[in-house]
Amino acid sequence: MITIKSQREIELMKASGAIVAQVLDLIEQEIQEGMSTLQLDRIAETYIRDHGGVPSFLNYSPKGDPDVPPYPATLCVSINEEVVHGVPSDGRIIREGDIVSVDCGVFKGGYHGDAARTYMIGEVDKKVRELVRVTKKCLEKGIAQAIAGNRLHDISAAVEEHARSHGFSVIENMVGHGIGAELHEEPPVPNYGKRKTGVKLREGMALAIEPMIAMGRSRNAVARNGAWVAVTEDGMPSAHFEHTIIVRKDRAEIMTVP
Ligand code: MF3
Ligand code: CO
Repeated sequence: MITIKSQREIELMKASGAIVAQVLDLIEQEIQEGMSTLQLDRIAETYIRDHGGVPSFLNYSPKGDPDVPPYPATLCVSINEEVVHGVPSDGRIIREGDIVSVDCGVFKGGYHGDAARTYMIGEVDKKVRELVRVTKKCLEKGIAQAIAGNRLHDISAAVEEHARSHGFSVIENMVGHGIGAELHEEPPVPNYGKRKTGVKLREGMALAIEPMIAMGRSRNAVARNGAWVAVTEDGMPSAHFEHTIIVRKDRAEIMTVP
């Protein structure tokens, strides 16, 4: 079932989303070569708790999968060929030329906000810079389709078409999602699909739209040695941007803004 959020619920989601955006702004200021991904995680967790929130991802267990251990951190920090779910650690150092995707979720007042950005560290290869720019634009193109009366896959198709027009691949086995009182709600929001298909979008639906776009040919993100992190099949870099939005009549309303 896809829930429709009331104005009151939307206000609460905006409050959670604002903290998410503030964390990502803070990371943008702080991130630099030589830092560990765990340092970023500490900055984020402290900021979230100081603002009355709880990290959404910490201790998260995918439903119905007792084999996967609960997620152990506040952020997902995924570098280069890592698509998503990179677990912050002391030993993982950020280097010049890396692209670093940081995904953050905050739970406050009963509702979640969820967003991600990919940061470039120092001098980044030209083609990789294009990947990051195009992925960000894919998110904007997807959000532009999130209006009442459109179909869900109008979002998906807009993302896919933009990625492909630049020769990049869409990661298909990881998708966006509905969001609200739960981090993951109905419906799944794929980053590929056919226009004019999927459920009809209605005002008040809350979606986390999150294109994951790869430079090579990889269409799936695969687990590396049984851990949380998922990497491209060919080792090529991948970028990730995400916003939590509310479907509106004329233009989607973005929850994850400071
Ligand atoms: N933005 C990602 C998602 O919505 C991050 C989830 S990390 C997890 O799926 F630990 F919560 F799984
Ligand atoms: Co998400």
